[in-house]
Amino acid sequence: MNIDKIRADFPVLSLKPRGRQLIYLDNAATTQKPQAVIDTLATYYQTENANVHRGVHFLSNEATEHFEAARDSVKEFINAADRCEVIFTRGTTESINLVASSFCKTLRRGDEIIVSEMEHHSNIVPWQLAALEHGLEIRVLPFDDSGELMQNELKHLINKRTRLVAITQVSNALGTVNDVKNVIETAHKFSIPVLIDGAQAIAHTKVDVRALDCDFYCFSGHKLYAPMGIGILYGKKEILQQLPPYQGGGEMIKEVSFSGTSFNDLPYRFEAGTPDVANALGLKTALEYVNTVGIEQISAYESSLLEYATTKLQSIEGLRLIGTAERKAAVISFLIGEAHPFDVGTLLDQMGIAVRSGHHCAQPVMNHYDIVGTVRASFAFYNTFNEVDALTDALKQISQMLL
Ligand code: ALA
Repeated sequence: MNIDKIRADFPVLSLKPRGRQLIYLDNAATTQKPQAVIDTLATYYQTENANVHRGVHFLSNEATEHFEAARDSVKEFINAADRCEVIFTRGTTESINLVASSFCKTLRRGDEIIVSEMEHHSNIVPWQLAALEHGLEIRVLPFDDSGELMQNELKHLINKRTRLVAITQVSNALGTVNDVKNVIETAHKFSIPVLIDGAQAIAHTKVDVRALDCDFYCFSGHKLYAPMGIGILYGKKEILQQLPPYQGGGEMIKEVSFSGTSFNDLPYRFEAGTPDVANALGLKTALEYVNTVGIEQISAYESSLLEYATTKLQSIEGLRLIGTAERKAAVISFLIGEAHPFDVGTLLDQMGIAVRSGHHCAQPVMNHYDIVGTVRASFAFYNTFNEVDALTDALKQISQMLL
């Protein structure tokens, strides 16, 4: 990979806030966008803008064609069996809410959903809301102090009332890569479907939904170099077909009258209202970009970056890593002595280094360690070993300042 050439494709990376070269290490929050994605949005609004699936005119047909081609790109990217299994949403959060809302309508009082202790709030709260509405119970699969999920506990949590397992592939707060294939196999032995939150995995590893055999897979475009506001829900056709609609409106219907409404086929049944066409096209361009670089190459490069960063950061006095699981993706969470993560984040910002500090929308993870939050550096394939060195030097200074 030619990192200099790649970096030149991302305009934000050349910013110099307060006269210092930006070092962007907040990729788990959102990734930067290559010029090709930015151009796709401008071109769409300059030359292609029209509503999809609704007009007979030239522009509408063209927009529809491009929008549906974006669906095909996603299908290929995740190796779905059928394009109707790819539903456009606003992001991972909406994808999970869609399943929590629709799937849970098919459940009965006392039925159970299993989530893990390391979930992002968006894979906890939608289930809690559904639990309140339908009288469901939430069971929690714990992790150990290294941040490793206690997967062996899963079979003990499963019982005859279990209806779904919803679990993250990569923890946004700890970086742990869960063996979701094993989770899926275990759940399937009991005929329980599994939803995978792929928000933090999709940009870092090859995702093949058929090889995983997951029942639902959710991700956001913006963590994959695509625009904000577009995401994907993948669902197995045979399961999606049985779910009641999520939102009502245009496009999701076949026929509407005051005596009743019949609903559209997949995937449109779950796409009420005008979709975000420009962002879907932006997602397609982002996938093409990632495919050109190669997800395997990205994965290998980021692993070496993470390994290097882990070794360097461990040498800093008073620095404690939070999350030391054996398999980790491009996230490194830490604390410096008793310093508040916001203080460390603010000092890093003064030095031109962007990280996230706080609870990372994963308060149960923070509760596990009895901490208020962490400082989190998260990498993308445009980050460099020099940037890791700069982070290390900055943290050494901060450690001397605060300890
Ligand atoms: N879920 C995103 C993060 O982890 C916003 O930062």
